Amino acid sequence: MMGLPQVVTMREVGTRDGIQSLGAFVPTEQKIEMANALARTGLTRIEVTSFVSPKAVPQMADAAVVMGAIERPPGLSWEPLVPNLVGARRALEARSDRLVVVLAASDTFNLKNIKMTVDDSLTGIAQIIPVAREAGVPVSAGIATSFGCPYEGDVPEVRVQEIVGRLLELGVDEVGLADTTGMANPVQVERMLGGIRSRWPEVPFGLHFHNTRGMGLANVVAGLRTGVQIYDASIGGIGGCPFAPKATGNVSTEDVVHMLHEMGIETGLDLDALIRCAQRMSEILGRDLPGQVMKAGPVGIRHAA
Ligand code: COA
Ligand code: ZN
Repeated sequence: MMGLPQVVTMREVGTRDGIQSLGAFVPTEQKIEMANALARTGLTRIEVTSFVSPKAVPQMADAAVVMGAIERPPGLSWEPLVPNLVGARRALEARSDRLVVVLAASDTFNLKNIKMTVDDSLTGIAQIIPVAREAGVPVSAGIATSFGCPYEGDVPEVRVQEIVGRLLELGVDEVGLADTTGMANPVQVERMLGGIRSRWPEVPFGLHFHNTRGMGLANVVAGLRTGVQIYDASIGGIGGCPFAPKATGNVSTEDVVHMLHEMGIETGLDLDALIRCAQRMSEILGRDLPGQVMKAGPVGIRHAA
């Protein structure tokens, strides 16, 4: 395929999106172990946790402890998700390298997820940005339900563009579009990102896909065709949002990285180390994970005839 980016940056979200909706509390020690193991695979960006209400998401109640214990190698950005100013202040206190503010494109989902309208989220983000700036910490924004809402259905492209425009006016320096419940298809992704990237060619955009309906990797390729170079993924393909019905795992980090490497696209990541992380995550959670390359191995392996 002509014109695909030659280099991609992966953002690992496994210890956040991956486990936030699990019922059984994953011990803090194991979250820290996994975060540090991921940090040794060559990843440069890890959405390690979220500073959200522990009543809303009990699994993330240990965010500050996790942030206090992780290794801090140079070049690695630990970038937790924050829903509001309280979360932003907690995340800055915990020495975050970047904040990821979150809102949705649809009001119904935003109200379920963070109990505010989209407009109120934007007002909150307007308060977060100066506080982060003061601390010298950059801010990305993630827009949930950008490709469809499990409550409202279709989300018009103009709606997503309007929110992107408002976020950029407020001063976020990167925008991620999230397909929270795996509703996006590749044609839609290419159309949406084509439009957005031609309107804001200088802005870095990221994509966050869930593989809920098996369209995740195809959507990554669609994103590549529009030149997007930042992809969220979770180790082993775990994941899901507690406030989205039927939400399941993100695209699996090692599956995306394997595909990119096979396509000749560089990630700077050690695929074998990622596969070992996925296997360890499977041990920690005590179950099989959706990731496929962790089971089949890379295409390069040869079996005894
Ligand atoms: N971190 C920790 N505690 C927080 C908090 C945060 N970011 N934001 C609010 N709180 C606390 C308040 O201090 C207050 O505590 P109190 O009851 O002891 O006084 C309580 O939570 C309620 O605060 P309020 O501002 O009224 O929050 P809310 O009940 O309207 O909930 C959110 C709003 C955003 C805090 C909550 O919905 C949330 O954390 N959502 C995150 C959902 C999520 O992570 N989804 C998946 C990722 S997209
Ligand atoms: Zn997600």
